[in-house]
Amino acid sequence: MSTAVQTETAETNAAPPPVRRDIFTPIHKGMRRLLFETAMAIGRTDFGAPDEVAATETVLFNCLRFLEDHATHEDGHVMPVVARLAPDFAAAMAPEHPALERAAREIQWLWERLRPLAGAARVALGGDIQRRFNAYVADQLRHMDKEEREVNAVLWAHLADSDLLAISGRIVADVGPARMREFGAVLSGALNRRELEVMERAAGR
Ligand SMILES: [Fe+2]
Repeated sequence: MSTAVQTETAETNAAPPPVRRDIFTPIHKGMRRLLFETAMAIGRTDFGAPDEVAATETVLFNCLRFLEDHATHEDGHVMPVVARLAPDFAAAMAPEHPALERAAREIQWLWERLRPLAGAARVALGGDIQRRFNAYVADQLRHMDKEEREVNAVLWAHLADSDLLAISGRIVADVGPARMREFGAVLSGALNRRELEVMERAAGR
């Protein structure tokens, strides 16, 4: 057998790497659901119709509040751990949450400027908000991808799954049952069957 074939056979027979506990991807699936659904809601909004603007405002502000809460949970319970394990990497990541938060605040501030406007002026500002929100979605997607690839790599290199479970437990305790149920409702429409089973077992259902 040639060396190339032997190498290929060895790779094919190699055991797959163990599946590690992932404290980012399931919650990010829920956050991406909110971001995508909100982008679509804004896209469907006729900014000339005040009732449609009011309905979309509820969707938008709810989405931004979930994303803000989510970043707060990471800042409180995950990034301090990353800072101990990989200080330079954590310092490079540190500006990302504040930058996303500034972008979210600008979108909210602009949305509130819609209220006194009418006609073409409101439609024009609505179009600007739509483009800003889409850019915010793109920035959030890049940020969450970095957490899923690079922050997870740091955590997995240094911590056992039991340590990661403990971090998740501290977040759940901090969030509290009522808000956890709201996060659970968002996640339930975004996870695959296996992830849903894990979430329901963790919730004792
Ligand atoms: Fe984050």
